Amino acid sequence: MKILMVCLGNICRSPLAEGILKQKVFENGLDWHVDSAGTSGYHAGELPDPRSIDVANKHGLDITDQKSRQFLSRDLDQFDVIYAMDTSNYRNILRLAQTPEEEAKVEIIMNMSRPGINQIVPDPYYGNDGFENVYQMLDEACDAIIEKYK
Ligand code: 4NP
Repeated sequence: MKILMVCLGNICRSPLAEGILKQKVFENGLDWHVDSAGTSGYHAGELPDPRSIDVANKHGLDITDQKSRQFLSRDLDQFDVIYAMDTSNYRNILRLAQTPEEEAKVEIIMNMSRPGINQIVPDPYYGNDGFENVYQMLDEACDAIIEKYK
């Protein structure tokens, strides 16, 4: 499996999603490739937001090996599943899809554990207290991803 996590900046939500899923992939002895990207290039080349690094650390994860990068249309070819954190990311990714097969790879991540309701992972960038909630939501969704594809 090749799985890509996508948010807007690739510094808050999708780096956490990448780190959480990579840890579960490791714990389950799976041979998956997990990466993340942002629909914008605003923060390309940057480390994850310090608040994401802190909440990851609190849960025993180190995400400081990650660097923000922009989502590319070829990611739709190269990955098996692409998880959007919210509906805006979802629409922006779908806009770049060139075939029905590519469109079918894109899903809103919370539909994995809370199917059919298109719940979003709220953007925590402008607040200060959203990061633990984001972590808990992504931890739940990543458990469901492991169960579905392992
Ligand atoms: P993310 O959060 O999409 O979870 O990485 C954001 C990061 C940066 C900005 C917005 C959201 N920004 O506008 O710079």
